[in-house]
Amino acid sequence: MRIAMIGGGYVGLVSATCFAEFGLNVNVVETNPDRLNALKKGKIPIYEPGLDILVNNNIKANRLKFFDKIEEAIPECEAIFIAVGTPPRNGDGHADMTYVHQAALQIATHLKQYAVIVTKSTVPVGTSRRIAQIIRQKNPDLEFDVASNPEFLREGDAIKDCMNPDRVIIGIEKDKEDQGKKAQDVMIRLYQPLFQRETPILFTNLESAELAKYASNCFLAMKLSYVNELADLCEQVGGNIEDITKGMGLDPRIGKYFLQPGPGFGGSCFPKDTLALIRIAQEAGSPVRMIEMAAQANDARKTSMSGRIIQLCEGNVNNKTIAILGLTFKPDTDDMRESSSLPIIHRLVEEGAIIKAFDPIGNDKAKPLLPRSVQYCNSIQDAATDADALVILTEWNEFRSLSTNNLKSWMKQPLVIDLRNIYNPRVMKDQGIQYHSVGRPQ
Ligand code: NAD
Ligand code: UGA
Repeated sequence: MRIAMIGGGYVGLVSATCFAEFGLNVNVVETNPDRLNALKKGKIPIYEPGLDILVNNNIKANRLKFFDKIEEAIPECEAIFIAVGTPPRNGDGHADMTYVHQAALQIATHLKQYAVIVTKSTVPVGTSRRIAQIIRQKNPDLEFDVASNPEFLREGDAIKDCMNPDRVIIGIEKDKEDQGKKAQDVMIRLYQPLFQRETPILFTNLESAELAKYASNCFLAMKLSYVNELADLCEQVGGNIEDITKGMGLDPRIGKYFLQPGPGFGGSCFPKDTLALIRIAQEAGSPVRMIEMAAQANDARKTSMSGRIIQLCEGNVNNKTIAILGLTFKPDTDDMRESSSLPIIHRLVEEGAIIKAFDPIGNDKAKPLLPRSVQYCNSIQDAATDADALVILTEWNEFRSLSTNNLKSWMKQPLVIDLRNIYNPRVMKDQGIQYHSVGRPQ
């Protein structure tokens, strides 16, 4: 079976590689020349653990190919996936559909055989039908179907999530004369390896599949805002968020995942998808008020975190050196999109702080997004040397075993502000560190 993937970014590249790993022939179309050239040479333009080897194995096996021209990539393909970006549209928070619509138009212009056009990008309800309309207008004689197959992978765990997902959701045109049967057959063949693994595969209509993606991301975002506010409450009334979330998580109706408080959720998806669902729901006259509150709480949290750091530095960071450990929105990715580190560092610099930042992978991608005065370091020691405070913003594994003796000798004073709760407050205190974390007694 041959398929095409339009877009070779985080989702397109990972999904294409995993389909190739399952034995399909996959043609990836990528318009960004730097990305494309790197990919053609087997160089991975993003950081995702395990992806490098898989991409190169599948290039060698001739199952994974990269193209700039869609007309060279889509002949003989039974399914064409659209995995381009859907960033927030300037000004109003709706998803910007420019890239998706462009891709649809390109497919319409060049497709000659029957294929299922599958939306993998996260898109507003109605997009698959809009894609069908674009294709029909441009190429009225073409026989095709549309399907919605949202992606649920997490950056940093993308290969695992893609090869072994919790579920696959596939929306098809159930209102068609054949009830979308032809499209369903193609999708079943495509996902055959997962059927064999007994992965739950849910067929539904287009609208439900499109909405299920936003519904899932927004539910998780809501869980996070709730736990972050509970952590704040703990600080006021004396609870310990770690014990509370452990207790909550033992109830299977709540579940133990996504209960880790932090400096606010970031990334390319939760912030933009909460905003998009809010707008979709407002326009439909059926607001999702809990998501509105969750997004507001998260925005407020990201800005308030810098205030917390300033306060712990005796209310003044002017001319103080702050070591920042971690810049990316989560570990095991180089993605800086909507990372909490951005508003935090901008504010600290505005207040006169000297920032020495170290991220194991993200330094380069962070540079264009942060003030010029930020100094980028190559090691924890480099960042911590002569610092007045050290702030942990991303829980990279290599930050989990800091030597307190080293910190005491490197830093001006051993003040550690851990916004990811990766250390035990009592142990840190016993070892002479002024340690502050989130929602736990200090
Ligand atoms: P990305 O920006 O990393 O990748 C998109 C790629 O598409 C870019 O490389 C761009 O050059 C390319 N592109 C744009 N138009 C093109 C065209 N017409 N032809 C060929 N290539 C084109 O974005 P991403 O993070 O991979 O996200 C893609 C979609 O998947 C978004 O809708 C996102 O919400 C969704 N999603 C992302 C994740 C994630 O973890 N990043 C997870 C699930 C879903
Ligand atoms: C998220 C979802 O988990 C994926 O299922 C989804 O496919 C993806 O968005 C998407 O649509 O793009 P991702 O953004 O890669 O994946 O990363 P997450 O692990 O979900 O983390 C998101 C943010 O929440 C990060 O800033 C992370 O630090 C924060 N987080 C996560 C917490 O603060 N606490 C937690 O317990 C979990």
